[in-house]
Amino acid sequence: MTATTAPRSPSIKALSTRQVSALKVLLFVVALVPAGRLVLAFFQDALGANPIEAITHATGDWTLRFLLITLAVTPLRKLTGWHWLIRLRRMLGLFAFFYAVLHFGTYIVLDQFFDWRAVVLDVLKRPYITVGFAAFVLLVPLAVTSTNAMVRRLGGRRWQALHRSVYGIAILGVVHYWWLVKADVFAPLIYALILAVLLGLRAWWREQERQRQRSAPPPQAKGQGRIIPILPR
Ligand code: HEM
Repeated sequence: MTATTAPRSPSIKALSTRQVSALKVLLFVVALVPAGRLVLAFFQDALGANPIEAITHATGDWTLRFLLITLAVTPLRKLTGWHWLIRLRRMLGLFAFFYAVLHFGTYIVLDQFFDWRAVVLDVLKRPYITVGFAAFVLLVPLAVTSTNAMVRRLGGRRWQALHRSVYGIAILGVVHYWWLVKADVFAPLIYALILAVLLGLRAWWREQERQRQRSAPPPQAKGQGRIIPILPR
């Protein structure tokens, strides 16, 4: 008699390749919604009294949100066991870059009208612009090296070391926002708290791993310096 294999119940913990691909398509469409809404509002003349400001604010918000969502992938994966989440991370990071390009582009094209002298002066003189600019510049190499070919070319360790700069970029993003609001720091404070939790969890897990490695006996030392009884006494 042949053993029949019971059909596996679908589990959110173990999505198939097809399910993850479908999820990626859905994520792609959803991530484009904020940009689509801006384009729509632009053509409907519904961006308010100051359309440039509205676009700058919306694209800045979504850059920071996608940065934080990207940083939330690893903690979420660890806490839930949904390992497929990692396969969405690259797209989320690239959407952070996409919104950063729109944000920076709005500033260069619509706000400064390609006046490079004014841009340089702004970057040098206004601390929140300096910090935002630094965050943007640091994002570029991460976007450029996001392909599988670049991971292979750099090697896993170097690639990981480079991509750890995303923690600093997110901090710069929050500082940029905090610095530009004049009085009401509520929104940047919320972003700062979320970022603190995401980075804090990582630091805590790293410390736990370090302690576990410290307390584990080195493999070659197993049994050394101990009398192992061969015969029962
Ligand atoms: C990763 C990079 C960046 C992030 C995460 C970011 C994020 C933000 C956020 C969250 C806001 C506030 C949105 C709101 O009020 O709702 C903002 C505003 C702004 N950002 Fe950025 N930004 C970045 C890069 C830049 C760069 C490179 C520039 C220009 C060089 C820039 C210029 C501005 C300006 C001019 C504002 C509006 C300031 C105001 O209303 O007074 N940002 N950004």
